Amino acid sequence: RILILDFGSQVTQLIARRLRESGVYCEVWPFTASAQRIAAFAPKGIIFSGGPASVTEGASPRAPDAVFGMGLPILGICYGQQTLAAQLGGTVEGGHAREFGRAFVDVTAECAITQGVWAKGAREEVWMSHGDRITVLPPGFRVVAESEGAPFALIANDERRYYGTMFHPEVVHTPHGAALLKNFTHGICGCTGDWTMGAFRAEAIQRIRDQVGSGRVICGLSGGVDSSVVAVLLHEAIGDQLTCIYVDHGLMRAGESDQVVTTFRDRFNIRLVHRDASDLFLGQLAGVTDPEVKRKTIGRLFIEVFEEEQRKIGGADFLAQGTLYPDVIESVSATGGPSVTIKSHHNVGGLPKEMRMRLVEPLRDLFKDEVRALGRELGMPEAIVGRHPFPGPGLAIRIPGDVTREKADLLRLVDTIYLDEIRKAGLYDKIWQAFAVLLPVRTVGVMGDGRTYDQACALRAVTSTDGMTADVYPFEMSFLTRVANRIVNEVRGINRVTYDITSKPPGTIEWE
Ligand code: XMP
Repeated sequence: RILILDFGSQVTQLIARRLRESGVYCEVWPFTASAQRIAAFAPKGIIFSGGPASVTEGASPRAPDAVFGMGLPILGICYGQQTLAAQLGGTVEGGHAREFGRAFVDVTAECAITQGVWAKGAREEVWMSHGDRITVLPPGFRVVAESEGAPFALIANDERRYYGTMFHPEVVHTPHGAALLKNFTHGICGCTGDWTMGAFRAEAIQRIRDQVGSGRVICGLSGGVDSSVVAVLLHEAIGDQLTCIYVDHGLMRAGESDQVVTTFRDRFNIRLVHRDASDLFLGQLAGVTDPEVKRKTIGRLFIEVFEEEQRKIGGADFLAQGTLYPDVIESVSATGGPSVTIKSHHNVGGLPKEMRMRLVEPLRDLFKDEVRALGRELGMPEAIVGRHPFPGPGLAIRIPGDVTREKADLLRLVDTIYLDEIRKAGLYDKIWQAFAVLLPVRTVGVMGDGRTYDQACALRAVTSTDGMTADVYPFEMSFLTRVANRIVNEVRGINRVTYDITSKPPGTIEWE
């Protein structure tokens, strides 16, 4: 097992993910972890993540000094490299050329990290994101690769088995990054790489049992991949101590409610409460136009309804949620962390402080495709695990401006046609997520001999591997015109269709 000490980078969990992909068990802990705890965890090696701070600032984070006395291999990435260097007697300076994004390094030597991956003399592509850089190496270190902006792009202390990279090997934009990490974990730390999703399942079940004991758990089931996997995992761990609550907020896709109820009640034998709360949600959302207020309102109501249902079934001690890692990282500042709030995901940022139930979040460290793999491991049908993600706030964040039942009904019609055509064209599994957005814009059109003055809608489809970045799906124009035709002809009230071609970043996947 490997320990990852987190210094607050947006991509720390990608390190964990790359390690899991190569069959290595790891845990991510804050850099403030005590030496005692680290020693008790007995890792085979430690990785220092990147982070937003600057080593040149007085109060910036440092790794516990004790880790340098444990005789373990250490890999420092970006900020992690800089603190490693600074703590071992090197010098880091700010204010030099900043490098962000794609960069090239020249491999000037060999070391155990580059073995079999990067050859001496090669020029290799990497992904950089830094402002500061090391100017004087600590004793015992040598340079293995350099770039224009970072003469110490990869450094090594072979004797102590300490390594540092200025670039991020954990992101896919560093083409051989995973192989470099594997050299660290397998070659240098001696991990065997036999950890699997089956092992994760067994560990997750054990962790749930340890946390919950004989307590009762309710789980908000939305029918999406995440909450469905949580429900089945919890059911496997604690059986009828689990009750699932499906809240219909009136902002689901067409036909979704029936499907959820029959699947989980009949097929999985899970205790399920179906609550139609559409009046409550739509009532409270009336007139709300600010996206963050919408998200927070929905988050608050979800919890209120859960608490009500929990009282009805005689109380529960825990609330289980399908929070994934990208949900956590993109709203960490809402919970006091150093990153910037992009959106308050309703299952993270919207939780009221006085919530009376404790949380069970078994997927908190995973990315979507890992959750899908876990679902398959649990024997769940492809129709559920292969589903496109659907956000907790539902259609509310696909209706810019105020949300009404009529608008939701209109959007459901558009969405159904779009998804129907995507399935018919055999494209569903090639797309990460596809959906329609109802625009708060009316435009002039002509139908038959008459003038129309109706609403416009946007279609969105993206490819992604984890939802943190996304690219537009390149439909054939003939497909788009076919869908647009059907929508304008079949949905009264819509007379214009646009296709959103924005990637993430700078856009986000959802419109709000
Ligand atoms: P964004 O729009 O932030 O979306 O690029 C990234 C992924 O997260 C989904 N999403 C949510 N999922 N609760 C969720 O469970 C939320 O509040 C939420 N907001 C966005 C989004 O659909 C995409 O897959």
